[in-house]
Amino acid sequence: MASEDVRILALTAAAREARKKAHAPYSAFFVGAAVEAGSGKIYPGCNVENASYGLTVCAERVAILKAVSEGEREIKTVVVVAGEGREVERPCGACLQVMQEFAPKNQPMVIVTCTADGIYETHTLAEYLPMPFRLESR
Ligand code: THU
Repeated sequence: MASEDVRILALTAAAREARKKAHAPYSAFFVGAAVEAGSGKIYPGCNVENASYGLTVCAERVAILKAVSEGEREIKTVVVVAGEGREVERPCGACLQVMQEFAPKNQPMVIVTCTADGIYETHTLAEYLPMPFRLESR
């Protein structure tokens, strides 16, 4: 098996484990994510809901913020596991903007979305967010 496939499998396994920890009593929509950071380390995350609904944080952002708070500044790959059946969940706009912040400068960020049943889609961040907000002048 190619090393690329092994990496995606490891990220998917971590996202599946993280999904078990989702705190989603309001939506009952359980999401797990795992990101591969610049160092090569994997950081998992799950969605964390709140009784004040708007405070909910998506699994993708939890995983990315965990990585960044450990000193990472680049996220190479994001894997998300959510939903059953054939319909893959796709990252929300807020998560895409946070991904943009830590996207690698010299390679595309790869985002794999996967259902619990193993149906998946692979896209780059640039496909999802072709015209991102950036503060280029800084
Ligand atoms: N959610 C995620 O964790 N990631 C997404 O990309 C979209 C939505 C969560 C937020 C909330 O806990 C639940 O899914 C339903 O919206």
